[in-house]
Amino acid sequence: MQATQAAAAIMKEYSTRTFSISNKEGINNLVTEVDHKSEEIIFEIIRKNYPDHYILSEESGEIIQDSNFKWIIDPIDGTVNYANHIPICCVSIGIEVSGKMEMGAVYNPFLNELFFAQRGYGATLNDQKIHVSKTPHLIKSCLVTGFPYTYLDNPNGPLEVFGKLIRKGIPVRRLGSAAMDLCWVAAGRFDGFYEHKLSAWDSAAGFLIVEEAGGKVTDMKGDLYNPYQPGIIATNGIIHDELLAVVKGGEV
Ligand code: IPD
Ligand code: CA
Ligand code: CA
Repeated sequence: MQATQAAAAIMKEYSTRTFSISNKEGINNLVTEVDHKSEEIIFEIIRKNYPDHYILSEESGEIIQDSNFKWIIDPIDGTVNYANHIPICCVSIGIEVSGKMEMGAVYNPFLNELFFAQRGYGATLNDQKIHVSKTPHLIKSCLVTGFPYTYLDNPNGPLEVFGKLIRKGIPVRRLGSAAMDLCWVAAGRFDGFYEHKLSAWDSAAGFLIVEEAGGKVTDMKGDLYNPYQPGIIATNGIIHDELLAVVKGGEV
């Protein structure tokens, strides 16, 4: 997808230069000059080719248009990683048509990995078909999660679930980019991902990529996933109910 690749090229170009970094709400919720530049080039491409499409983008909010097409954009997912020169970050773009996610593209220019899915056509990594893992049990799984910038001190919140899993010896990684987490589940590198508080732009592309790679994605109640609510569980499908039970408060 042209817009994803153009924005990722900007990320790569600026990574070797000095760029400005500022804070959003919360003490370490960052935005860099490059987030804005990435967004600008994506907007330019959409305006040129699809001037009447609706846009929802992390740094600019909503550009409301009377259209069935909605672009959901994270110009850099993993900004804290990007700002620290950790090469786990990406551009993520999902396209919703009449309220249904139809296309997703996620590109990490440092690993040169482009994940793509179109509803009904499967998921690819650099044009090669990908599939979720076949790991049969939660206890044998390798998982990934993320934590919000502003910690949720809820009963059964992120640290409680994390604690239950690691106390049983289950590896749970924390990469710092929800879009990457989802794509790595799709590629079978992880067996499952859960996170308590995401925004639509974090997961719009990645959740479709997991589904098209044969995985299962739900909210934290186990209902049909939609990216406009906070919680997500995305797995190879086989371990889904086991992980869901733990997220809901059960034991491993
Ligand atoms: C963040 C990343 C991170 C997740 C945070 C997100 P950003 O997005 O996806 O993995 O834990 O909740 O906000 O701020 O780097 O675009
Ligand atoms: Ca994000
Ligand atoms: Ca972002």
